[in-house]
Amino acid sequence: MRFLLTTLALAGVAAACGDDHTHDARDGHDHAHTKREFPSSPLAPPSRPLTWGALNILHTTDSHGWLLGHQKTSFPEPNYSGDFGDFASFVSHMKELALKKDVDLLLVDSGDLHDGTGLSDGYAPGGVDAHASNQFFKELPYDVLAIGNHELYIYNNTLDMHQNFAPRFNGRYLSSNVNITIDGVSKPVGSRFAKFKTRKGRAVTALGVLYDFTGNDKNTTVQPVEAMVKEAWFAAAIKDEPDLFLLAGHMPVSRDNWPLVFNAIRAVHPITPIIILGGHSHIRDCLQLDGRSMSLESGRYMETVGWMSADLAAPKHERRHEGEDHGSGQGSDTKNITFSRRYLDPNRVTYEYHTGRGNFSFDTAWGRSITKGLEKLAKTFDLSFEYGTAPHDFTINQAPYPSNDSLLSLVEQAMPIALTVNNTRASTPNIMITNSGSLRFDIYAGPFTKNDQLTASPFADSFLYIPNVPAVVAKAVLPALNGAGADERRRDESMEAELWARGYVGTRYREWIEEMYRRDVVEGGEARRAAANLTLGYVTSDACPGVGDDTPHAPLEFHSIPDFIASAAPAVADDAPIDLIFVDFIETQLIGIVNSVQKDKVFTTADVSQYTDILATELLGIFAQQAWN
Ligand SMILES: *[C@@H]1O[C@H](CO)[C@@H](O)[C@H](O)[C@H]1NC(C)=O
Ligand SMILES: *[C@@H]1O[C@H](CO)[C@@H](O)[C@H](O)[C@H]1NC(C)=O
Ligand SMILES: *[C@@H]1O[C@H](CO)[C@@H](O)[C@H](O)[C@H]1NC(C)=O
Ligand SMILES: *[C@@H]1O[C@H](CO)[C@@H](O)[C@H](O)[C@H]1NC(C)=O
Ligand SMILES: *[C@@H]1O[C@H](CO)[C@@H](O)[C@H](O)[C@H]1NC(C)=O
Ligand SMILES: *[C@@H]1O[C@H](CO)[C@@H](O)[C@H](O)[C@H]1NC(C)=O
Ligand SMILES: *[C@@H]1O[C@H](CO)[C@@H](O)[C@H](O)[C@H]1NC(C)=O
Ligand SMILES: *[C@@H]1O[C@H](CO)[C@@H](O)[C@H](O)[C@H]1NC(C)=O
Ligand SMILES: *[C@@H]1O[C@H](CO)[C@@H](O)[C@H](O)[C@H]1NC(C)=O
Ligand SMILES: [Zn+2]
Ligand SMILES: [Zn+2]
Repeated sequence: MRFLLTTLALAGVAAACGDDHTHDARDGHDHAHTKREFPSSPLAPPSRPLTWGALNILHTTDSHGWLLGHQKTSFPEPNYSGDFGDFASFVSHMKELALKKDVDLLLVDSGDLHDGTGLSDGYAPGGVDAHASNQFFKELPYDVLAIGNHELYIYNNTLDMHQNFAPRFNGRYLSSNVNITIDGVSKPVGSRFAKFKTRKGRAVTALGVLYDFTGNDKNTTVQPVEAMVKEAWFAAAIKDEPDLFLLAGHMPVSRDNWPLVFNAIRAVHPITPIIILGGHSHIRDCLQLDGRSMSLESGRYMETVGWMSADLAAPKHERRHEGEDHGSGQGSDTKNITFSRRYLDPNRVTYEYHTGRGNFSFDTAWGRSITKGLEKLAKTFDLSFEYGTAPHDFTINQAPYPSNDSLLSLVEQAMPIALTVNNTRASTPNIMITNSGSLRFDIYAGPFTKNDQLTASPFADSFLYIPNVPAVVAKAVLPALNGAGADERRRDESMEAELWARGYVGTRYREWIEEMYRRDVVEGGEARRAAANLTLGYVTSDACPGVGDDTPHAPLEFHSIPDFIASAAPAVADDAPIDLIFVDFIETQLIGIVNSVQKDKVFTTADVSQYTDILATELLGIFAQQAWN
């Protein structure tokens, strides 16, 4: 099945240039760049038209720099091949449709614009992460945006958002519970809330809330959500009843603190429509906290564009004018609101289908200029610099671990090759350990570029070591780190909570893709998939009525992975002294483990030194230069 689909994709790659755009938009088209102008394979269209309501929303979240879309031909990447220029054209056409239908259409983003691709992270030394890619974000007509945790790891990034990003949105870049300290003065990074009217005259009160994140840099502040809802400014902001509350925020719609905000508003306004647009856990999710509210979360990495419609009543002031509102101040409509939601695969086929456009009438000059600008940025950052050619796909969860197709197995193999380059300790036997969470994205067959290196391994961690560890002790460390015992499991849970607070979402995302895979197996798996001609992608099961996915898919294979991985142990005597090398992110845990698997010596940070100047972000490139050339 996989093999067949791959062959199909490769056969379809040819088309890149020349459509009926007779003029400017296509001129100066850069043939050197690998970005595909059109889907590289025939894409399945969406299953059905969108349901429009009186108020409609397009939602993005956790884009993490993926503004050039997903450019690989391995499945399901072509599903997400739309770039931000295509998205801009889509937004233009949707705005026109909304005008024609005489309804509201809002555009909302829930944060995490930093960290994830070369466009955000491939800047030259001295630059600021995502400063350049955010210039394209700023071109889109967002009505409301919320700050994400990835805007807060580095003070300069937050400062850039405050000084250069927020002003563009005139008070609609929201950071209700997030401040930055500048010259000793603490102030919101954006605005705490916004009140505005939609085109159709609906009064909106909007907030932008960040989950209880603790990994923020010095001179930035994240106030716990529970404390935020007790603030006097909060009470004042929600006091007057709008036509709807729009709660954007970088906080998952399930299993987090949205109910605190929701209940605080419901205590004052029992029936006012509340729309929640969440993010952060990188999944597609939807639920309703009551019949006059819906909460939507729209995935990650521009693999999803969210859609919500709500059959809201006419704006209050109009109802009053028409004598429908009898002075209760709450409106006459107390019935459940009809909502719809949809998770779109961002690609031109989806965009064209929902805007009634064809391949040749879809692009706008504005959209094309964004695409061209992004391609130019990719060139400036030299993102298509090739380290080598990946012989096949290496995936995090689609292949069993260990195996030749596992990215984790590849990293185990790559560490001893890359980290010993120009290293005086290269000849000392060693074991090298890292955490699987340091890997963020699969590697696909074909050119392995600077951009691919940054998407696969975006965290600039360094490597440390303890010398002269008896081989038998070093060998016991990995199994202990991945520990199966009850003590280890308890520690895992508190470690998990700690990692969550610091912003690590891998576990939650993996639970989601594992669940869809298991469900599919139960429902008949491969056979059903073939009969329905389903292509690979996300298969969402959420708590909202009806089917959420816009294009039906079969789930990707899922294999679970350990939290920690290591290079092969050297063949030496048990008591031979070797180097125990590990990524700095796990230093505290690792020292604890070394002290638990032996009692001859108490190891401390004083025993730890830097092993190499090479960073985790460089490891795969150095490996590829040697092994894939
Ligand atoms: C879109 O246009 C390109 C360029 O002419 C062409 O190669 C491709 O087949 C077209 N796709 C569709 C779906 O018509
Ligand atoms: C998604 O990926 C599949 C392969 O799994 C491909 O066949 C399909 O055409 C892609 N696009 C869409 C829109 O489904
Ligand atoms: C932050 O930015 C300022 C100027 O923009 C620069 O001087 C400083 O070195 C940067 N700090 C870091 C830690 O990058
Ligand atoms: C925080 O800001 C203050 C002044 O605004 C400055 O003195 C201090 O060094 C900053 N702290 C850090 C860790 O950057
Ligand atoms: C955030 O800034 C506002 C405005 O300057 C200030 O009143 C508030 O105390 C700050 N909040 C925190 C948690 O520092
Ligand atoms: C209204 O919505 C709520 C929550 O979704 C549901 O429990 C209730 O049954 C609905 N009421 C009607 C009349 O549909
Ligand atoms: C994995 O790769 C190795 C080395 O290339 C090869 O010898 C082995 O047969 C492969 N294993 C499988 C299951 O393909
Ligand atoms: C290793 O040293 C050589 C010679 O100085 C240099 O060209 C190369 O870039 C170095 N490699 C790494 C990965 O630092
Ligand atoms: C699946 O594809 C085959 C061949 O294109 C077609 O004959 C069949 O009707 C399709 N089945 C469904 C359920 O769409
Ligand atoms: Zn994110
Ligand atoms: Zn996040």
